[in-house]
Amino acid sequence: MAVTQKERIFKGDPDGVDPDKVPKKILKSGARLPCVGLGTFGSDRFSAEAVAEAVKGAISVGYRHIDCASVYGNEAKIGTVLREVRENGLKREELWITSKLWNDKHGEKDVIPSCKQSLKDLQLDYLDLYLIHWPFSNFHAKGVDVTSRDPSAKPYIHENYMKTWRQLEKLVKMGLVKHIGTSNMTIPKLKLLLRDAEIKPVCNELELHPHFQQPEFFKFLLDNDIIPIGFSPIGSPLRPERDRSPGDTVDIEDPVIVKIAKRLNVHPAVVCVKWAIQRGQVPIPFSVNRNECLANLRCAVSAPITQEEMKEIAGIDKNCRLIKGQVFLWKSNQSWEDLWAPSGEITPP
Ligand SMILES: NC(=O)c1ccc[n+]([C@@H]2O[C@H](COP(=O)([O-])OP(=O)(O)OC[C@H]3O[C@@H](n4cnc5c(N)ncnc54)[C@H](OP(=O)(O)O)[C@@H]3O)[C@@H](O)[C@H]2O)c1
Repeated sequence: MAVTQKERIFKGDPDGVDPDKVPKKILKSGARLPCVGLGTFGSDRFSAEAVAEAVKGAISVGYRHIDCASVYGNEAKIGTVLREVRENGLKREELWITSKLWNDKHGEKDVIPSCKQSLKDLQLDYLDLYLIHWPFSNFHAKGVDVTSRDPSAKPYIHENYMKTWRQLEKLVKMGLVKHIGTSNMTIPKLKLLLRDAEIKPVCNELELHPHFQQPEFFKFLLDNDIIPIGFSPIGSPLRPERDRSPGDTVDIEDPVIVKIAKRLNVHPAVVCVKWAIQRGQVPIPFSVNRNECLANLRCAVSAPITQEEMKEIAGIDKNCRLIKGQVFLWKSNQSWEDLWAPSGEITPP
């Protein structure tokens, strides 16, 4: 009997999750975004090869949504895997691939070449989603300390952001990108974009985990038909030293998360992912470990956690931002809070 496509994908992974059963967010375009994706930022700890292997493993257990970025330095290796899985029968339209424009490519001339480079590296004809990684045009070398400053760093200047956005809109018109979106934004910045965009953002990627729930922003996104994609959904326990600050809390050690994990007999990380999916955001956990990846996907199709538990998790928010973005500050006497509209308004230049 002929081997079905699904059997080929699951070869060696009989306990993988059927991708058809993974819930999807349905976009206005009709596109279907799987409710959990695989992150691919190796946090300086994993080589491009190791992350690409993780992508291969994740696809084999049923992932169809991969969160990439040019700055992660591994798109070419991931591209080899994406070609291989398609040679093995997976159709392009079954995958959701995101990439992001890095901060030193904002403006009018570098956006389209940068997107084309990501497409070439990923061996794709189009991206499902292209995001502006940060709303600040800035250059800082890979891996620099958070005290490092770009002398030509600029604050958020809406007019400049729109120049970049217009290029993203062009990418959609050129057919190179199906959807466009934002990342690391704030409500006031998004309000301006929604006012001025010809093609609206469909997704916004933002830090979201039980100790950093951003309820007001989360509601704003849903109210405006923008899907929240939650990064560092487990609280990025192994993030680089440079992204650690005194006072950071650890989601997977929270007694509420640990209690629910014990009841479900899973790792506390899985509770973070499950809560995220159930709340309505799209988490993109990272792991190079096949069993962890599988657990993070399987929880999308297992019985929900109780309403009581959802309430308990809502109650442990500590407003603890982990990825503070200090390298984007443009003046010496500023605090990282200035990047995040603490007064409800964009911090003036
Ligand atoms: N847009 C942006 O600016 C932005 C910023 C940051 C991140 N991101 C995206 O978000 C993705 C995820 O964020 P992140 O990598 O910072 O952190 P994360 O997903 O919150 O945490 C990843 C860590 O959690 C552990 N883990 C994952 N699943 C587990 C499980 N089932 N059981 C036990 N431990 C588990 C892994 O440990 P082991 O390594 O030991 O397996 C991994 O190191 C990134 O890879 C990237 O794609 C985007």
